Amino acid sequence: MIFVDACLKKQTKYTPVWMMRQAGRYLPEYMRVRAEAGDFLSLCKDYKRASEVTIQPVDILGVDAAILFSDILVVPLEMGMGLKFLKGEGPVFDEPIKTQDDLDKLDANKAVKNLNYVYDTIKLTRENLANDKALIGFLGAPWTLATYMIEGQGSKNYAICKKMLYSNPELLHKILDNVTKACIGYAKMQIRSGVNAIQIFDSWAAALEESAFFEFSWSYILRIVDEIKREFADFPVIVFPKGISGYLPKISGNFDVFGVDWSTPIELAKAHLADKYVLQGNMEPTRLYSQSAIDEGIDKILSVMQGQNHIFNLGHGILPDIPVQNAKYFIKQVQERSARG
Ligand code: CP3
Repeated sequence: MIFVDACLKKQTKYTPVWMMRQAGRYLPEYMRVRAEAGDFLSLCKDYKRASEVTIQPVDILGVDAAILFSDILVVPLEMGMGLKFLKGEGPVFDEPIKTQDDLDKLDANKAVKNLNYVYDTIKLTRENLANDKALIGFLGAPWTLATYMIEGQGSKNYAICKKMLYSNPELLHKILDNVTKACIGYAKMQIRSGVNAIQIFDSWAAALEESAFFEFSWSYILRIVDEIKREFADFPVIVFPKGISGYLPKISGNFDVFGVDWSTPIELAKAHLADKYVLQGNMEPTRLYSQSAIDEGIDKILSVMQGQNHIFNLGHGILPDIPVQNAKYFIKQVQERSARG
């Protein structure tokens, strides 16, 4: 698998490419299957349809890896938090965590068991996916999950979480510790079910000042990475803490691939991390609106990375109104322009 080879720093014939959020609303084929399933969460729980939409971008775009179709928020859901996805508003938890009592109602072990629909999706997908295409599993970083569990929904300023961080850090650490336990069990079960790599999404890392990021987010990410590596030493792990370019000098750990978001200049990520880690990223996702912007974005990134320890991706998820032909064009151009003899 070219994707796994690249994660493990082996030479590849071209730079493998996939896109964050590649299974999603910009694909009419996805919208059809989602309508059949009912709503988004029903689709996540329906392993046959979830597997079908996982494979769609491989068939339609020719990406080098599929990413499991699910959501990071199924972990708190299965720990016992009622969750709805409201149209236009995104995810909403019925009863956000406010106190130790609220936390005590949640069960990390139960989540690891109840997520069996994800393990079924992985097994079926691995059966149906071509042998040379990797299947990427994923989880949310404990900090990013905690922002939703405490705020109850997406937030602009994370005021409720950060109030807890500075006024009751013990409770925040207990929440993060509990979520981390669920994440570790969940990651290991994804690996046993057949994923070929795991990405940890820390979408809201940049909400934290430097010392808070390392204490409340990065330390928990590293605990998950170390636990995975203790049992599966050569298994590829990708981290994606979004928006923390200022903290790169202090980034290190036992992971293989560092996901670079679009706001971080790839040269900067290369200077700090490329001697130790494979870089993944980082084309600005809205370049996908224009083919000339795609050409320019690809050439710039390839010229910096020159094929060295690099996986091509967008610097965050693809947007729902991107024309499919542009997404196809992007994938093909990366594979062709990065080809080496
Ligand atoms: O293709 C893939 O990348 C695999 C599937 C995937 C989804 N969510 C499906 C999804 C992955 C990897 C995620 C991760 C995720 N979910 C993150 C981290 C990545 C990131 O984008 O920063 C976060 C923060 C979430 C939480 C979440 N899920 C939000 C905030 C929303 C609403 C916003 C939106 O885009 O609608 C979701 C819903 C969601 N997750 C959709 C999909 C395809 C849209 C649901 C639909 O309407 O079909």
